[in-house]
Amino acid sequence: MDQWIVGNLHPIPRILMGPGPSNVHYRVYQAMMTPVIGYLDPQLLSCMDEISEMLRVVFQTKNPLTLAISATGSSGMEASFVNFVEPGDTVVIGVNGFFAARMVEVASRCGARVIQIEQEWGKAVEPERIIKALKENPQTKVCGLVHGETSTGVMQPLEEIGSYCKKRETLLVVDAVTTLGGAPVKVDEWGIDVCYSSSQKCLSVPPGLSPITVSAKAKDLLRSRKTKVQSFYFDLLLLEKYWGEERVYHHTAPASMFYALREGLRIIMEEGLEERFKRHQTLGDHLKMELEGLGFKLFAQEGFRLPMLTSVVLPDGVDDAQVRRRLLEQYQIEVGGGLGPLKGKIWRIGLMGETCKMQNIACLIGALKEIL
Ligand SMILES: Cc1ncc(COP(=O)(O)O)c(C=O)c1O
Repeated sequence: MDQWIVGNLHPIPRILMGPGPSNVHYRVYQAMMTPVIGYLDPQLLSCMDEISEMLRVVFQTKNPLTLAISATGSSGMEASFVNFVEPGDTVVIGVNGFFAARMVEVASRCGARVIQIEQEWGKAVEPERIIKALKENPQTKVCGLVHGETSTGVMQPLEEIGSYCKKRETLLVVDAVTTLGGAPVKVDEWGIDVCYSSSQKCLSVPPGLSPITVSAKAKDLLRSRKTKVQSFYFDLLLLEKYWGEERVYHHTAPASMFYALREGLRIIMEEGLEERFKRHQTLGDHLKMELEGLGFKLFAQEGFRLPMLTSVVLPDGVDDAQVRRRLLEQYQIEVGGGLGPLKGKIWRIGLMGETCKMQNIACLIGALKEIL
């Protein structure tokens, strides 16, 4: 035991098939080993420009205000509400899972009057119900939706709601933490005003950055705020001054994480977006088929299932904690358990970015056959 207490840290590599983080490409780790430089060093600034440029490709947008916040995916959510919501504003949120419920919490903390359009966990929120709420509340400042609800494995349709919001003042804020880089997120075409994600899922970069993109309509609203944004760290106009042409110091940029994201994005550019989406869809479908063959029932509503995260109901007699512990300890495979009311009832199995490989599916299915 002594070597563990006094020795170097030696985590056993795992196959990360949970709801995130996903496995990281060795080139990303190599990039992180390059020297740290100052936050205004021209080399770091050009690395940031490259990140913005590649993020615009992945978000499928022309938004100049596209950057990565120096914190995990939750910071994208915080930034989206703290910047665009002032106390008393109306916010409509589609609530069908854990992360949508967190959106409600974050918006409420900003002083919003939140109208929740609730849906059973495991199903998508019907766009017509959201649009009806927006029609009944035309003063709505922000409509918030989670594109990939990681707690249930459901993909939320956005296009209809986006085209409704496009013609009005309401901003469409979308959580693409789980979907970005693994499925199309067409920010401009779908009329999304603010879209945030995280580094550690389909981008396959360690946790620690939250890419975000902001439309011109949303930026105009920022400029017309009556009050200062309550958070200094997440103030998007201040962040823009650092990431944009002015280059004003805002925080000491985590250079190693920027290198990592740059490399992760380069790997995506090399693969090509369409190829990458196809890989996630094909292998996601294959995993679902294999799990059904083992007696698992798919949890998410048919037609609205995420390719990169499969949720399954545990068959009778399968002990959630015990099987997942054996998967981890004997096979080095991590899968996710259920969150909130779904704890002990479902598993969440990720195939995100670097993890999304046939060999990982084969390992998991083989291990499950032996255990069960
Ligand atoms: C849909 C969704 N939103 C937000 C978050 C929060 O991201 P983070 O844990 O990186 O802060 C997660 C994390 O899993 C998520 O799945």
